[in-house]
Amino acid sequence: MAENKVTILDFKHKKENGGKITMLTAYDCPMARLIDSAGIDAVLVGDSVGMVVLGYDSTVRVTMEEMIHHCKAVRRGVTRAFLIGDMPFMSYQVSDEDAVRNAGRFVKEAGCEAVKVEGGREVSSRVSAIIDAGIPVLGHIGLTPQTASKLGGYRVQGRSAESAGRLIDDAAVLEKAGCFALVLECVPASLAGKITGNAGIPTIGIGAGRHCDGQVLVTHDIIGYFDKFIPKFVKQYAKISGTILEAVRDFKNETESGSFPGDEHSF
Ligand code: KIV
Repeated sequence: MAENKVTILDFKHKKENGGKITMLTAYDCPMARLIDSAGIDAVLVGDSVGMVVLGYDSTVRVTMEEMIHHCKAVRRGVTRAFLIGDMPFMSYQVSDEDAVRNAGRFVKEAGCEAVKVEGGREVSSRVSAIIDAGIPVLGHIGLTPQTASKLGGYRVQGRSAESAGRLIDDAAVLEKAGCFALVLECVPASLAGKITGNAGIPTIGIGAGRHCDGQVLVTHDIIGYFDKFIPKFVKQYAKISGTILEAVRDFKNETESGSFPGDEHSF
């Protein structure tokens, strides 16, 4: 095991001591290696892989086999960070048994240390069943992309008093069910602050403002690799697409003009 291996206890300590938890997504080994070596606390193999890598128009189409395939690749690149696999749509909705069996695959076949499930009170028995089987669970409330159509689209959640109250209650239910942390996606910063203040477990925000105990973003968004659309909550730290395009065009032009390969690339 790597020195300073991150565990769920580190997240708890960070919340207690006011430290901020960092989490990014990865879907392949080289990216996982870079994220791990940068010292990020947790790597999430998100079902966002469906949109930013596989070209689907939502995360709903992502399968267990696709998730396991990408988790295995990421596992080979991560030695220090805590590795979480995202349970895809319909891998935990039908029954507790299904949820445990599929969560088990993330751990046994892909080497993940925890799984993430979307939803509030409606998934609490799934969460408890998975935890009873010995697998830590990261909850995810607010905008839950797997059920975005039920929410009326990709929109900020918890704006009305009723919906805010529901999210506050869901957070408490998931904490009671045993989640080690909660992702809060697209909720007003003040509500996220309230949930964070109430919760004994860390909150990790995405589009949920600065009061959360940590932040998670999709790596392809922050490096400017996925630029089909850029959500308001994303900060682009690089614009890698432009660099890739330039390199590909240079290769094309040099090959066509005959200036590549040069003597230094030949045997
Ligand atoms: O699928 C994903 O990448 C996620 C995070 C952005 C939280 O669920």
